[in-house]
Amino acid sequence: MCSQLNDLVIITEGTTKILVPRDSIKNKVPPKNPAFFNPRAKLSRDLSIVAYSAFLENFEGPKVFLDGLSGLGARGLRVANEIGIEVVVNDLNPSALALSKESAALNSLQNYCTSENEICRFFGSFSKKGHRGAIVDVDPFGSPAKFIDCAIRATVHRGLLSVTATDLQVLHGLFKDSCKKKYHGTPIKTTYSNEIAIRLILGCIGVVAARLDVEATPVFVENNQHYYRIYVRILNRPETRDVIGFIAHCRSCGNRFATTAHVSNCDLCDSRLEHAGPLWIGKLFEKEFVERMQAHLPGFSVDRKCAKILEKCIAEVNMPPYYYTLDEIAEMNKSSPSSLERTIGKLQENGFLSSPTSFNPTGFRTDCRIGRIRELLSG
Ligand SMILES: C[S@@+](CC[C@H](N)C(=O)[O-])C[C@H]1O[C@@H](n2cnc3c(N)ncnc32)[C@H](O)[C@@H]1O
Ligand SMILES: [Zn+2]
Repeated sequence: MCSQLNDLVIITEGTTKILVPRDSIKNKVPPKNPAFFNPRAKLSRDLSIVAYSAFLENFEGPKVFLDGLSGLGARGLRVANEIGIEVVVNDLNPSALALSKESAALNSLQNYCTSENEICRFFGSFSKKGHRGAIVDVDPFGSPAKFIDCAIRATVHRGLLSVTATDLQVLHGLFKDSCKKKYHGTPIKTTYSNEIAIRLILGCIGVVAARLDVEATPVFVENNQHYYRIYVRILNRPETRDVIGFIAHCRSCGNRFATTAHVSNCDLCDSRLEHAGPLWIGKLFEKEFVERMQAHLPGFSVDRKCAKILEKCIAEVNMPPYYYTLDEIAEMNKSSPSSLERTIGKLQENGFLSSPTSFNPTGFRTDCRIGRIRELLSG
């Protein structure tokens, strides 16, 4: 699938040809020079294509995709080629943009143009009413926090903003102060830290959106070992719902719950509670949006894993904002882990809500509390 041009290779992702440095395919860590390309982010780009296509089905107005940190343009090239809307990609790296233009020619794209600018200047040139993007993407090295303001301003009313974060150590609680500074919220280390991380990113977007008098509602989120990615719909109206709060966690008994205010002690064992947040405690998925993604899936050449991920997202739409893992329950019960199917089945048989989660292959959500979960899974 690769044809070679000295230090460059042409790969095909989806149905799009992309010219990339050979080292980015060969090396474990893709180099930043001459341009950054991460082949392992293909699944994330596959899901973007499906999410953007689902979003556009119901979007009225100019269909323009703005990519503020495009690298050599992988995502934008795919949007232009596989979805067919107008695309403008931006990066500070001229070598990345040169590759991007060559790839556009390889795919005979007429709906793709490039910009070499600082991201906030780029988004600033699209922030005026009538010029904003229908879909805006921010995919930085590390934290997206400092780009959220200008990205929201460049997103049209009813538009879609997608944001990636790769500063996982910060979001997982290794550098708590840094997380507080960047995301306005404090993380805690738990078995469901990836969900807390995504909720912290959404909480931060919520704070910035509120300052700009807009609402940013999640429609889809996804996570991976190396990155977190969120999709929010931007509406020009102030947020009125109570969706920012905390996740309280008890280290002694494993109790966890969402709350809008700090609660000092665990109601099950009276130990002192830890709190993650302020963060987003509302829904992470809009059911209709994810169902539309499922309907659009067959139209694209994407990884089979996409279907499985979307299935889990639908199942967990109305579940509590945290999950448990089979291993942690087994460890508490000093037994071997039960299967996911058996666990969910047992909880449902006993009248509780329960589902798998797209956040962890051995994770499950339930409205059953920890003591009863342990009892039900002890036999
Ligand atoms: C993680 S890479 C983007 C990867 C790309 N979205 C993809 O899917 O392959 C981040 C990019 O941001 C660019 N960059 C970093 N700081 C920037 C800034 N302030 N303004 C514009 N581009 C910037 C870098 O040159 C790099 O290409
Ligand atoms: Zn407790």
